[in-house]
Amino acid sequence: MVNVVLDKQLQQKLQTIDNRDEEIFCRLQQGTGLGNDFLGWLHLPQDLSEDIVGAIENTAQRLQKIAEKIVVVGIGGSYLGARAVISALQTNFVTPKHEVIYAGNHLSQDYMVDLLHLLDTTDYAIIVISKSGTTTEPAVAFKLLKQHCEQKYGKANAKERIVCITDKEKGALKVMATQEQYETFVIPDNVGGRYSVLTPVGLLPIAVAGFNIRNILNGAKAMQKNLSVLNENNCALLYAKVRNYWLANGKSIEVLASFEPRFYYLIEWWKQLFGESEGKNNKGLFPTGLLYTTDLHSMGQYMQQGQRIMFETFLSVKQSGNTCQVPFDENNLDKLNFIAGKTLKEINEKAELGTILAHQQGGVPTLKIEIETLDEQTIGELIYFFEFSCGLSAYMLEVNPFDQPGVESYKTNMFALLNKPGYEKEAKEIQTQIERL
Ligand code: PA5
Repeated sequence: MVNVVLDKQLQQKLQTIDNRDEEIFCRLQQGTGLGNDFLGWLHLPQDLSEDIVGAIENTAQRLQKIAEKIVVVGIGGSYLGARAVISALQTNFVTPKHEVIYAGNHLSQDYMVDLLHLLDTTDYAIIVISKSGTTTEPAVAFKLLKQHCEQKYGKANAKERIVCITDKEKGALKVMATQEQYETFVIPDNVGGRYSVLTPVGLLPIAVAGFNIRNILNGAKAMQKNLSVLNENNCALLYAKVRNYWLANGKSIEVLASFEPRFYYLIEWWKQLFGESEGKNNKGLFPTGLLYTTDLHSMGQYMQQGQRIMFETFLSVKQSGNTCQVPFDENNLDKLNFIAGKTLKEINEKAELGTILAHQQGGVPTLKIEIETLDEQTIGELIYFFEFSCGLSAYMLEVNPFDQPGVESYKTNMFALLNKPGYEKEAKEIQTQIERL
């Protein structure tokens, strides 16, 4: 299970449940808060039907049979969850039998040209994911990939290699999927992008990559059960409270730090989850991430002695599935015999403890989120834990955790600059702004 560990005194203070905690908790659990039409994720682990899970597994197996690489096209919540889980669970340096690669999460021309070259000589399938079905980045990437796929395999065969995940009725992707008769999975109406990893959005790419989605769902289910009870052991409530405590006490940045590089994309997913859910109405902690010890040699100086505007959350795995011991050298030429016989895990743990103590001494409050092992079950637990914490934390801030109105601003400007029909007024306005540059 997920364990949240913090300074004993603060833990005692924050663990005590008061009326406000009760009220915030009920808002989420009983669906009385802002954005309550987007609470489908809350019961997803329990509610996801056997039919859907079975269909996802069948499609994953079908794609595995016809493709070496699977291109997942999507941006934000439509790809980060899958990428976070796949990269956390994948063994380093082993090219997976069915490699998931990503597109449509930016607009780089070089990336797309390189990808299309790679696909010239690779058997591939495409999973295109967009809840709105209108997001520009995945739409443009899919247009190019669809053309490539049809040219390479012929239109009829390309159909077998394309799967769409989108809204049940709205959006250009849904229209295209229906017209072209692509296999399609539905993103439930009441689940927003960044909370959608436990729907086909995350589960299909994860299953294609070869992981057991039932274990992930079981982990999430266990965490759902655990967090549905309001008591002092509710780790999501504690985490949400400590975040808001430090925000109210002058910290404006939360650094999610880990000594495990496999968490790179989990941190990216976490950044989106909290950043997009809380950063509105001029409120919210700025979520950022660091991977140690790598970043201790780039950002460690700032963490130790820069502006004291952050607190740090360490994400740790207690046990490793591997053992690697430092060998003894009779001549001790590298002067490392003092650690001979120790495992890298032990040394990494000492680096972590040393860092926590150093940063505390330097005025950075710290807390720890621990899981016992890193596997499908615990990653499911962690996902649900962070989602639940985020809902509570945003309600503590009095913001809607489930909308993202600010994301529209750059899109409006981009469309105006690209002369999209309907954006003529914005194009004129933006011209004045450009002239001032
Ligand atoms: O959390 C969100 O809602 C967003 O990050 C979306 O997932 C992202 O903007 C992509 O949207 P869509 O799935 O509609 O293409």
